[in-house]
Amino acid sequence: MSDAADETRFAFGKNWKSFLASVGQDRVDEAVKSLISLTGYSDLTGIKFLDIGCGSGIFSLAAYSLGAEVMSIDYDQDSVGCALQLKEKVGGNDRWRVEQGSVLDSAYLSSLGQFDVVYSWGVLHHTGDMMGAFENIQRVVRPEGVLCLSIYNDQGAISRFWKRVKKIYCESLAGRYLVLVAFVPIFFSYAVLAGLMSSGNPVAFFRDYKKNRGMSIYHDWVDWLGGYPFEVAKPGEVFSFFRDRGFVLKELRTRNGMGCNEFVFRHDKPASA
Ligand SMILES: C[S@@+](CC[C@H](N)C(=O)[O-])C[C@H]1O[C@@H](n2cnc3c(N)ncnc32)[C@H](O)[C@@H]1O
Repeated sequence: MSDAADETRFAFGKNWKSFLASVGQDRVDEAVKSLISLTGYSDLTGIKFLDIGCGSGIFSLAAYSLGAEVMSIDYDQDSVGCALQLKEKVGGNDRWRVEQGSVLDSAYLSSLGQFDVVYSWGVLHHTGDMMGAFENIQRVVRPEGVLCLSIYNDQGAISRFWKRVKKIYCESLAGRYLVLVAFVPIFFSYAVLAGLMSSGNPVAFFRDYKKNRGMSIYHDWVDWLGGYPFEVAKPGEVFSFFRDRGFVLKELRTRNGMGCNEFVFRHDKPASA
């Protein structure tokens, strides 16, 4: 496996394991809604769906519940464990496979074949080699297939600041506590203010957060503060990369600040070519 920056790496899977304890049908329903909204498919029956960097496995479960033939992969063994646990919880059958594997391992990825929908949300910028991951992922999308990505927005100096923070978080236990103590109170205050300003209720932002893809606010804070390796891209850079490899942009959701830009591309090569 050729992942870069292996020595300094956030334990994504541990965070997902802790998140999994809070996953009920309400969060799964939000994940399903988010998947339908991004892909435009409300029925995935007969669709081969590859979830790269499946994390908790909740989007694999969403695709499975919409009828897809699902392959979930993740670099982190704890994330793989989460997806297997979700699969077991819903009594998933052979239509859902889960494996440990890296998007940077081109031989492994090619061995999986090609897929109708390739979904990789919030993953490729955490591999340590985002451009290598771009190169590999486009090969597993079948002609006329769909590629859904989300990639951190490039904010220049601000992104470089956060990269430094994340590195500090991952380098030592002391660094982790320092980062948590410094930023969690700020995030908490922001959330209280956001709730007050939007609906006059200080807990509204916390209460409604799960509408954001079924996620949990606390686990997203930890994921944001620790998520290293960390790379970013401007929307135009992602667009050009995939356009030059025969992909057409179908949907783009950009961010002004922190967070991910979302892209849906179609592999514009005729199925018969
Ligand atoms: C921020 S999480 C996103 C999880 C999920 N896609 C979601 O939307 O909730 C990033 C995931 O990417 C995984 N990951 C990091 N590097 C990877 C690689 N080289 N190959 C596959 N997965 C990787 C991490 O282990 C982690 O589970």
